[in-house]
Amino acid sequence: MVSLATSTFSRNLCPRPSLPYAVRALGTTLLRLHPKPTSWGPLSSSLKSCSAHFSASNFKFSKSPNETLGSRDDLVVLGIETSCDDTAAAIVRSNGDILSQVVSSQADLLARYGGVAPKMAEGAHMQVIDQVVQDALENANLTERDLSAVAVTIGPGLSLCLRVGVQKARKIAGSHNLPIVGVHHMEAHALVARLIEKDLQFPFMALLISGGHNLLILARDLGHYIQLGTTIDDAIGEAYDKTAKWLGLDMRRSGGPAIEELAREGDAKAVKFSTPMKQHKDCNFSYAGLKTQVRLAIESRNINAEIPISSASSEDRSSRADIAASFQRVAVLHLEERCERAIEWALKIEPSIKHLVVSGGVASNQYVRAQLDQVVKKKSLQLVCPPPSLCTDNGVMVAWTGLEHFCMGRYDPPPPANEPEDYVVCLKILIAYG
Ligand code: KG4
Ligand code: ZN
Repeated sequence: MVSLATSTFSRNLCPRPSLPYAVRALGTTLLRLHPKPTSWGPLSSSLKSCSAHFSASNFKFSKSPNETLGSRDDLVVLGIETSCDDTAAAIVRSNGDILSQVVSSQADLLARYGGVAPKMAEGAHMQVIDQVVQDALENANLTERDLSAVAVTIGPGLSLCLRVGVQKARKIAGSHNLPIVGVHHMEAHALVARLIEKDLQFPFMALLISGGHNLLILARDLGHYIQLGTTIDDAIGEAYDKTAKWLGLDMRRSGGPAIEELAREGDAKAVKFSTPMKQHKDCNFSYAGLKTQVRLAIESRNINAEIPISSASSEDRSSRADIAASFQRVAVLHLEERCERAIEWALKIEPSIKHLVVSGGVASNQYVRAQLDQVVKKKSLQLVCPPPSLCTDNGVMVAWTGLEHFCMGRYDPPPPANEPEDYVVCLKILIAYG
């Protein structure tokens, strides 16, 4: 039996004064929970559409819906995140208490392959997922039976990796008749700010900066987002990671933190990099050109990435530090310029906006935070930056976003307790920006 589970974040599309209408399908991913190549059939005939998403009508809670939805403080949700290289789980209560948070990172794999290798990452997720979830439950002094719902990232991300989390979530939800909430990874990065800043009401702006995304959005309401800008090529996190790799830095904590640390030793004006997209008066981003500028600067200084920074001469080290600092200055200046314009745009649409949320892995960078704080102050707004452990990928953001949707009645019914191993899930993530 095959079925289609769809999670749709589109809400009513409101008229917009100045921005072109855009609806973006951020990804459709078919996930086979345990791949059995022989049983793959043509998708059109093997998938049956099921419109049960975000609907409370067609299944029974173990608790009554009124009891569950009415008493928000009693809800306890497990969040599972496996979209990239971190296996994360957390348990969050609807009053905002974080009962536990566990992250298992693939640092060694990252260092060995210089980036994320999907098949390796999938294997690493499979190895640790049971333990990570178990630890999250134990640290919260709970069992699966105590949960109100299970939330899981369904994209965007590496499909091989996503399915490990989805499979685990469906197994738990199926065994205990729990509703399941499919979570959009980038929405989770934005909404976790509402967990830490209780005054953060809609509408607000968000700059989401990670390894794969650069997004500037106006969040009008839960599930209703206007995209003000996105990257036309690479994301800033990718530029940090490549720069770190080419500079021979220790990649075990990913490239961003390594560049941030080395940049403190360097002269940010030493290397003249040009700021991307100066002539484009919009809010989009581009980091491919800056990456090329960095690569050329590294080549022209004969820096050898094979020699780790720890073994470099002091002259070599200071040359690498200058490149790290100069790269960081321009990479972040690009964010500053786009944010300033986006704030002007957004205030025309929603004059009541008071906050800019900055989240995603790159938002854990202190220099990024300090520079964006200045921009936001200049525009008389307030910066909301989750603590670093909630900026990089984590289960808390998934649990919290699951809670937000769950409380609005948007969730899937529990999967069958005995779901077949070769069950195929179609994760269709559609965000409507309107
Ligand atoms: O959100 P995230 O944990 O995973 C994705 O969704 O991609 O973001 C990971 C990205 C990586 O590119 C990593 O290098 C970057 O965030 N990052 C940083 C810092 N910490 C993580 N970039 C700059 N400075 C940091 N301190
Ligand atoms: Zn992320």
